[in-house]
Amino acid sequence: MSRLTDLIAQARNKDAQLGVDLEREFRVLSSRLPFGLNFERHRPEAVELPQRPVRKGDKVRVLPERGSTARGDLRLWQVTSVAKIGQKKVADLEPLDGPDRQSCKVPLEDLIVVAEFRDTIYPGLVSTGRVARGGVDKPCHTVINGENYHVLKALTWTHRGKVDAIYIDPPYNTGAKDWKYNNDYVEGDDLYRHSKWLAMMERRLLVAKELLNPADSVLIVSIDEKEYLRLGLLLEQIFPEAAIEMVTSVISAKGVARFGQFSRVEEFIYFVRIGDSVVQLGEHNMLDDSRSASAQIGRAVDWLGLRRREPTARRGARPNQFYPIFVSSDSGHIHSIGKAITDEVDRAEVVAPKGTFAVWPLRPNGDEGLWGITPETATRYLQDGFIRARNVKPELGRVAIHYLPSGTVDAIKDGRIEITGRDADNAVQAVYRDRKGVIPKRVWNVPAHNAENGGSLVLSKLIPGRRFPFPKSLFAVEDALRFFVALKPAAVVLDFFSGSGTAAHAVMRLNRQDGGRRQCICVTNNEVAADEQRALREKGLRPGDPEWEQWGICDYITKPRVAAAITGKTPEGQPISGDYKFTDEFPMAEGFEESAEFFTLTYETPVSVSHHAAFTRIAPLLWLRAGSRGQRIDRLPAAGWAVVDSYGLLVDVDNAAPFYEAVATASDLRVVYIVTDDERRFQAITRHLPARMEPVRLYESYLTNFGFANGE
Ligand SMILES: C[S@@+](CC[C@H](N)C(=O)[O-])C[C@H]1O[C@@H](n2cnc3c(N)ncnc32)[C@H](O)[C@@H]1O
Repeated sequence: MSRLTDLIAQARNKDAQLGVDLEREFRVLSSRLPFGLNFERHRPEAVELPQRPVRKGDKVRVLPERGSTARGDLRLWQVTSVAKIGQKKVADLEPLDGPDRQSCKVPLEDLIVVAEFRDTIYPGLVSTGRVARGGVDKPCHTVINGENYHVLKALTWTHRGKVDAIYIDPPYNTGAKDWKYNNDYVEGDDLYRHSKWLAMMERRLLVAKELLNPADSVLIVSIDEKEYLRLGLLLEQIFPEAAIEMVTSVISAKGVARFGQFSRVEEFIYFVRIGDSVVQLGEHNMLDDSRSASAQIGRAVDWLGLRRREPTARRGARPNQFYPIFVSSDSGHIHSIGKAITDEVDRAEVVAPKGTFAVWPLRPNGDEGLWGITPETATRYLQDGFIRARNVKPELGRVAIHYLPSGTVDAIKDGRIEITGRDADNAVQAVYRDRKGVIPKRVWNVPAHNAENGGSLVLSKLIPGRRFPFPKSLFAVEDALRFFVALKPAAVVLDFFSGSGTAAHAVMRLNRQDGGRRQCICVTNNEVAADEQRALREKGLRPGDPEWEQWGICDYITKPRVAAAITGKTPEGQPISGDYKFTDEFPMAEGFEESAEFFTLTYETPVSVSHHAAFTRIAPLLWLRAGSRGQRIDRLPAAGWAVVDSYGLLVDVDNAAPFYEAVATASDLRVVYIVTDDERRFQAITRHLPARMEPVRLYESYLTNFGFANGE
């Protein structure tokens, strides 16, 4: 290794940054586990920010000429100054990653800003629209257009340890231009395609882990045969304490046939359970139709026949269970329970009370059998209405005696079954309040999970004519989440590869089923599909042009889909045709009583932004941290403080008295932000706040609160 250390030292003399990078990789390599998943972590990723104006100090790339479809130039430059030459703004550029280039001048319009993942970023959010049907009390779903790594970093401030479930469906690394590493498609013949994919996933999953509630949460990742083995190992390495299970899910029973191979009908779903997270019982075992305990809620209880059916249940086999039940000849109701008779007594000798006749536990062939309970229990049940006579036909010698089994009686006593009324003979009418449920299996074969019908077809109804490759079945995502958030009506769900926004839609459906207030945070970039990119470039368009950005996934698919799901109307304003046909059936045009707000991630420069502008960009982060509910404080309040539905903001700490009064009467306030650089001041103010509120300190230069350095 000493030779390597020497070489690193030599490299550092020539290029300091190169030396630092080499040394870091060397350290990683030398500390690497001898077993487990070994892969190349690659150059830190960089992301292009097409809509970010170019400023002095920025890292940039030079865009290909308009009209060119050539691969972009990936070399990095730094802007050292910007000057106006004639009508054009022109930047002076210094080369960043290689000494073999000269500095040069390039028009600003031909440059694109780049954020490397090792850079500290100052994220902000700009609202780009809203649909509101959920009222003030219900949290808003959010869709964030941005690079997910940076959004995840920003969420470490708003949602550290607060997320109940993450669902992701990352690019499957098919080799068919389904994702980019460093702005370059990862193709099938790229020797490093697996390690690039792992490096990309590892970076994001490490940040995502910080968001999950360590006490009880789940990470759900869908994947297919290209990467499922490597992903499994990666998950084990990142979540060593978690319980990991993999479900095989049939998504197209007709199959994709490839010669010499088994036909592909399935995908895989990893469930990473953290802390006390357990799989909730379902209504379906997910594999076949044995819906044994489906949908118990509201279902009437089952009455059983009282006569024992097994062949050994003959008179004399058990003492005390051969006795008469007297039924009124007029009403057909049970009148009373007789005493058990011993084996020597002929049952014909028993005299029935006046106006009644005796019913004995007789088999269909007339042999004497046994009742299922003792006469003492039967007497109690008669008082309680847990035993009844039905189909009374004394002339045919037939009467059916029914009773409620002990499990049902227990459930009535502890309230799991509700008595809703009584029949004329006092027998109870009762229905299940709870769901019994079945343990789901690890192989899912549910027709509604079909990717075509539950995914593409549903999407085509919501946003007709807009194509999105391989959306997940809405119902598959709903089922996957239900196993973990069914009993968490206020769950926070995150999908940071959200594509068409299926997860948000699934969360809305879950809320509708049980009146929940769950919220989904969707993150996706505004990538334009590979074939469309070519056509746009040929027309002379480039990323950042509005005519280009409008076709991006977030703007063209995700936001319109989420809006359509809520409003029940297509982007053209037409009622959505068709019905949801799954656990419940209702017209898609009904929409949902939910709200969603759409944002775009921004990258601020801490030096050049004034306090007011900086505050406006971080305002949505304060609102998100307080639960994404109700009004937002978008500008610094002129009064020095403001209180809205879920949080308060104190800017003028010298004038706090009216603020204390306002927060004391705000019953729903969760968080209070206090702007001060003085720690003692902050502590003094928190003492005036009700204990139920979380005080959060903000530095006066707002953006310093939100500087996220890379952990690499
Ligand atoms: C396989 S799709 C997800 C499909 C989604 N589950 C659905 O049902 O529509 C993956 C999505 O992640 C987005 N994506 C990929 N890399 C990303 C990144 N680095 N940041 C943000 N989004 C990304 C892509 O735009 C793509 O739409």
